[in-house]
Amino acid sequence: MVSGYKGLGWIAVVAGLGLAADQPPKVVPLKPPAEAEIPEGPVGDAIRLGRKVFTNTPLHAPKYSGNALSCSSCHLEAGRAPNASPMVGLWAAFPTYLPRAGRVGTLEDRINGCFLRSMNGKPLPPGSEEMRGMLAYIWWLSRGVPVGAEVQGRGNPPVTVPAAPDPVRGQAVYARACEACHGADGQGSAEVPPLWGPRSFNLGAGMARTSKATAFVKANMSGLGGSDPLSVQDACDVSVYFTRQPRPDFPDKAKDWPRGGKPADSRY
Ligand code: HEC
Ligand code: HEC
Repeated sequence: MVSGYKGLGWIAVVAGLGLAADQPPKVVPLKPPAEAEIPEGPVGDAIRLGRKVFTNTPLHAPKYSGNALSCSSCHLEAGRAPNASPMVGLWAAFPTYLPRAGRVGTLEDRINGCFLRSMNGKPLPPGSEEMRGMLAYIWWLSRGVPVGAEVQGRGNPPVTVPAAPDPVRGQAVYARACEACHGADGQGSAEVPPLWGPRSFNLGAGMARTSKATAFVKANMSGLGGSDPLSVQDACDVSVYFTRQPRPDFPDKAKDWPRGGKPADSRY
């Protein structure tokens, strides 16, 4: 399959995002429209519904949400923040090859990947108002991004994971840099999402992997609440600590990476 592509070097560079393309996409600035620019009328209503589902998933998609997280718990600033896997531009980036699924996936497929894993929930039915809203919101955020282009700050910037992550050191990093908000028991609060336990993401989520959690934490959870900024080693140690705490299983995990290429930090 992959041998059919010409740009193997490029495939290696973008593999973290699950992309595969013959040539590097054009990179454009991340410039989402302002909230106030959401139009009136039925399309605006769909965009607003999508935004609500994105920013408070348990409240606005209770049939499909399976935990205390919202999409915006990880895709920060309602999917607008660079380096926090923004939704801006994704309308122009799908369909694309998804290595974990071993097939070309649509934007709906990718949204439902996070519903099943990060949200430990159920997929949004294709014709549902919630899915129409989610698509309308991402379409609107992607305004002006040409098809096939990529925005600056897509994904969580990849990091080189240190050779020997240490969960014991990670526990100390947690106490000094995370606990004040996420709690000693990792369960968060009304404002802060849980990092483990039955109300958090499951074993099949990208965030359960050391490389993905380290990238997110280094870019987005470093130096908060007056704590010292995290080194990559700190971010990795704390990630190995919190991702290994008890969390829901992902029963369909045996079906992942059907064509091989399972990353070394997969949890199964
Ligand atoms: C626990 C954290 C977490 C939550 C909650 C979460 N996601 Fe994600 N999502 C991720 C990670 C990690 C990635 C992969 C980013 C990477 O590879 O750099 C991702 C990737 C994506 C992508 C593909 C991004 C791209 O650039 O190709 C989409 C679309 C997406 N998520 C949608 C959603 C939606 C919709 C929700 C809510 C239903 C959601 N996510 C909830 C962690 C999360
Ligand atoms: C000042 C408070 C604060 C501190 C300190 C903090 N976080 Fe967070 N964290 C948040 C909030 C709030 C969110 C959700 C983002 C949002 O809703 O905008 C979040 C989201 C997350 C998420 C994704 C959602 C989830 O529950 O899985 C992870 C992972 C995470 N934080 C890990 C950490 C780690 C590791 C540390 C310490 C290095 C840390 N955080 C420090 C407030 C904090």
